[in-house]
Amino acid sequence: MCGIVGYLGTQPAVPILIEGLKKLEYRGYDSAGIAVLNGGNLTVTKSAGKINLLERLLQEEGCPDSHIGIGHTRWATHGRPSDINSHPHTDCTGEFAVVHNGIIENYQSLKEWLQQEGHTFVSETDTEVLPHLVEHFYRGDLETAVLEVISRVQGSYAMVAFTQKEPGKLVAVRKDSPLVVGLGEDEYFLASDIPAILNHTRRAYILEDGEVAVLMAEGVQILDQWGLPVDKPIFEVEWDAKAAEKGGYDHFMLKEIHEQPKALKDTLSSRLTPDNRRIQLSEVKLTPQQIKNIRKVSIVACGTAYHAGVVGKYVLEKLARIPTEVDIASEFRYRDPLLDEQTLVVVVSQSGETADTLAALREAKRKGARVLAITNVVGSSVSREADDVLYTWAGPEIAVASTKAYTTQLICMYLLGLYLAQVRETLPEGEIETIIDHLRQLPQQVQIILDRERVVKEIAEKYTQAENCFFIGRGLDYAVAMEGSLKLKEISYIHAEAYAAGELKHGTLALIVEGIPVLAIATQEELLEKTMSNVKEVKAREATVIGLAMEGNREIKKSVDEVIYLPRTHAMLTSVLTVVPLQLLAYYAAVARGTDVDQPRNLAKSVTVE
Ligand code: G6P
Repeated sequence: MCGIVGYLGTQPAVPILIEGLKKLEYRGYDSAGIAVLNGGNLTVTKSAGKINLLERLLQEEGCPDSHIGIGHTRWATHGRPSDINSHPHTDCTGEFAVVHNGIIENYQSLKEWLQQEGHTFVSETDTEVLPHLVEHFYRGDLETAVLEVISRVQGSYAMVAFTQKEPGKLVAVRKDSPLVVGLGEDEYFLASDIPAILNHTRRAYILEDGEVAVLMAEGVQILDQWGLPVDKPIFEVEWDAKAAEKGGYDHFMLKEIHEQPKALKDTLSSRLTPDNRRIQLSEVKLTPQQIKNIRKVSIVACGTAYHAGVVGKYVLEKLARIPTEVDIASEFRYRDPLLDEQTLVVVVSQSGETADTLAALREAKRKGARVLAITNVVGSSVSREADDVLYTWAGPEIAVASTKAYTTQLICMYLLGLYLAQVRETLPEGEIETIIDHLRQLPQQVQIILDRERVVKEIAEKYTQAENCFFIGRGLDYAVAMEGSLKLKEISYIHAEAYAAGELKHGTLALIVEGIPVLAIATQEELLEKTMSNVKEVKAREATVIGLAMEGNREIKKSVDEVIYLPRTHAMLTSVLTVVPLQLLAYYAAVARGTDVDQPRNLAKSVTVE
């Protein structure tokens, strides 16, 4: 995730900006840059790659003696990692510089408008519209220009603007992306995260959405989105540096679970038309004719991404009516799969670097199939080699156990299914709109589940002594059961198995003994009776059953020991909600057992060997 820093004070700015950027390295990044004043002129130094490359550039070019500046580490979204795409970005005159985190959803239309007004763009980023907008609206004071800009942009952002025309001022604003203002003695700091300021101060303003901070030598003023002053309390930071990196959470995994509402919204919003009635996948270059010619979809992935693929199979078949198969990448490439130019191969990979997935992609291309990648890392091997890419805008995932990458991969599967259905006209009138309406509610419904986290924690703590556990479900619930069981295994080391509920009686029922926990997922109304009869089979063998059901399902309470209720949604979308309590369950079971949650034994985040 991108990182922002800013400094205004009496000390040389460059070392402070570099130090702050280094403190934000843990968030993941692919390029870095700073803008400072050099003899009254704004100078930008930036480069793809790590911060030491930026430091080398600064040494070569001579480090400017500035007491004000902004800095950025970029995690690519729009446009690959490159020198030009790195931040800060400037306007046509080079007098305004901006750093930005987040996604400007309406950047395309703003860019077209600015180009008509005579502005010239040099990068592929969404961010570049911001300095040009600031230039356009600047009438002598930067905060007024920034207020004009934010009234026109849609999306999520934390941004800092800086101009040589007002050499003693930084203006910062946020919406859906964190930003803090550090308050020192005669010096002020900006950062997207508290760790970047902790060496200098423990007093800060934590900006709220829509708030604008104006930093000047005389002090910091906070304004609301209409430019009116806000009386804001100072936050005294009590976290140590390690806790601060995790935003106050005990582990990255928990932080990432909590980041899901935002990640889902980011992945979804810019892929909907402004009236929210259709799907627009501008990054997918498949023509309508090519989409109509698809005879088969083959989804290939590893680990959690494979589980997103299992959901994808249900979704693509149901929505686009295309026969879909799903394979584990390491199996796919050795089974001589039947592929041709009418096959669409969908590879799913958070990192975009998994060796088996990459090999499967190459095998698919060799056989003439078109490859679409769903990945989280812009510029990754998978994204470079695929014909089309649909990015999950989850931001970097640090915990080995994948959470927000999985739920955003699910969103991409729904978007792809609906898009193919739209072109192939496979859904009844109004159905796409209905599903979009439900999709748009998912981020806040996930938030509702997170707000009830304590219930799941209590359940998890009751069963931490278990050595075996089963996850059962039918249809989409079975697909999510696979992911729930993987989460529990990989971080708590409790042996868990996912089973299609109807298949239990063909062998596994022999393992059901008194007290064994069984997670029964029962969100699919049309399969409910059947699933409930499977629940009764395990209850009759004295298993302890924890049910996951949609709100309003009172029946289930009579047959199970505990129930976790989920907000109601469209039957096809339940997977995004169901998995969240299962992530929390695994997390709290692991914490109670004292395992290393973020770095489980024997596992790696990115597996680049076969
Ligand atoms: C590793 C990780 C998993 C991940 C899998 C696939 O095993 O520990 O969390 O699901 O690789 O990774 P990818 O980056 O291709 O999604």
